[in-house]
Amino acid sequence: MAAAAMRAPTAVLLLAVLLPFAAAPSRAATLATSPSASTSTAAFQLHGDVYPTGHYYITMNIGDPAKPYFLDVDTGSDLTWLQCDAPCQSCNKVPHPLYRPAPKKLVPCADSLCTALHSGLGSGNRCPSPKQCDYRIKYTDSATSQGVLIADNFSLPLSKSSTVRPSLTFGCGYDQQVGKNGEKPAVTDGLLGLGRGSVSLLSQLKQQGITKNVLGHCLSTNGGGFLFFGDGIVPTSRVTWVPMARSTSGNYYSPGSGTLYFDKRSLGLKPMEVVFDSGSTYTYFTAQPYQAVVSALKGGLSKSLKQVPGDELPLCWKGQKAFKSVFDVKKEFKSLHLSFATGKNAVMEIPPENYLIVTKIGNVCLGILDATVAKLSFSIIGDITMLDQMVIYDNEKAQLGWVRGPCSRSAKSILSSIP
Ligand SMILES: *[C@@H]1O[C@H](CO)[C@@H](O)[C@H](O)[C@H]1NC(C)=O
Repeated sequence: MAAAAMRAPTAVLLLAVLLPFAAAPSRAATLATSPSASTSTAAFQLHGDVYPTGHYYITMNIGDPAKPYFLDVDTGSDLTWLQCDAPCQSCNKVPHPLYRPAPKKLVPCADSLCTALHSGLGSGNRCPSPKQCDYRIKYTDSATSQGVLIADNFSLPLSKSSTVRPSLTFGCGYDQQVGKNGEKPAVTDGLLGLGRGSVSLLSQLKQQGITKNVLGHCLSTNGGGFLFFGDGIVPTSRVTWVPMARSTSGNYYSPGSGTLYFDKRSLGLKPMEVVFDSGSTYTYFTAQPYQAVVSALKGGLSKSLKQVPGDELPLCWKGQKAFKSVFDVKKEFKSLHLSFATGKNAVMEIPPENYLIVTKIGNVCLGILDATVAKLSFSIIGDITMLDQMVIYDNEKAQLGWVRGPCSRSAKSILSSIP
């Protein structure tokens, strides 16, 4: 759910490691995994952080010859796209030279992925010319991207140091309108759409028999982490699994409705519909849970914390000394728990480090925002809340899972651990 150049929730159409992925360090047993024989697993190194970058992204090599592009990992939207020299009418300053499509790589209007994309995007999307598939995406922060579908080779690193180079369909975005952030150079060249729709990169990999329709990410608090496609490193134990719900607000990955607890106490809240979205930096709660959490948090703080006008986020506090990390101030704050009725004993713990950031000047800010202000009718679990857990989106078994553990392993070592 993100536009390439900014980080706000959208609404458009819109990694088990064999080693210490244990809940507690004392139980660092080897996790049994069940790699599938017929398909592969691909893994990528993640870059970026929640703050100050606000993005987690991978380097994807695209084209023939392949050139590198930074793609923002977004499980909240389907279409992968690059800012593109088609020629470009409006692009941001991006980290790499703009992708230049060859005319023969245009995907025709009759292609099933064009039809799927258009039906997902809704009104106004049709082909002026049958030779190509034009589209226009609007994200909830009112950023838009206009482009044309292209097919080109993507290089996917697999285990045993092998690489596959399938031709995949993605968007060449030649007109981006990203509102007030437009002047800022973009951190990434484009977006990696990993949603549930058939145009999603993951659905295409499944369709071509390359990987299973399973993805996972492990975003590290220290920045970086890893992303994987396929089921080769999904742990067979300790993962909390919840069936995927049909989201009423679009084709999002949703574990259904969750009830929020503060410091293990009920806040008397009704369950709220939740979606997992790696394209959202922060977490969003709908109005009632948001207000309840804010007052509960404020009520528990000692006098040493003074509320200050937000520098980075709406709600921030200053301590007697500048904080260096969330761990300096964590004891002032309590854990939240999100309990899902659909999973057996399915509770996501949200400790302070999964909802607070420390800013450059050493204040601590709440990384949970009011969904209503962002015009969202549901809650979003964003990057901040998914830090230091492996989060698994299993479209084969229609379930979502999470397990705590360090995310600092390299993608290379993960791939070499797959038999
Ligand atoms: C690009 O993809 C096409 C279609 O899958 C394939 O035939 C071709 O060999 C690939 N090119 C490279 C350089 O691997």
